[in-house]
Amino acid sequence: MPTTSTAPNDDFIWSDEYLLGFDAIDAVHEEFVRVVHQLLHSKDENLLAHLDEFAAHAKSHFDTEDQWMRETAFPPAQCHIDEHAAVMQSLQEVRERVVLGDYDVGRSFTRELVKWFPGHATHLDSALAQWMFKREHGGKPVVFRRQAASAQKAFGL
Ligand SMILES: [Fe+2]
Ligand SMILES: [Fe+2]
Repeated sequence: MPTTSTAPNDDFIWSDEYLLGFDAIDAVHEEFVRVVHQLLHSKDENLLAHLDEFAAHAKSHFDTEDQWMRETAFPPAQCHIDEHAAVMQSLQEVRERVVLGDYDVGRSFTRELVKWFPGHATHLDSALAQWMFKREHGGKPVVFRRQAASAQKAFGL
């Protein structure tokens, strides 16, 4: 279940703020956050294994989105597909360095993923989520995000 949380700047925790309203994308994005969070907190000796777990996730995640875009002739597909490919290319280069014991490169790549994801989700995945939702349900998704802090304030709790 999605939970709302306030993460410190160096952490990466799933938040309802990331919900886009198309369940299949939301589920895979929650998994992305879980795998990157694990990578962020990985010890050196586990970094390569966690990087490989991220690689498996990213391949499935990006391949699925790319396939949806191609199969449905999603209009702004190419820049989105190119961005996925750029992440996979960087991942491959980073993995080669981590294999040689350069853990700092793995850690900075992980921090870049944390910075990259919100913009990618907001600007590219959200359009795809709306497109896919509309194909399946005939309208735009309505996203209910928990507003715990503002609700508590509004109700004087
Ligand atoms: Fe995505
Ligand atoms: Fe994407």
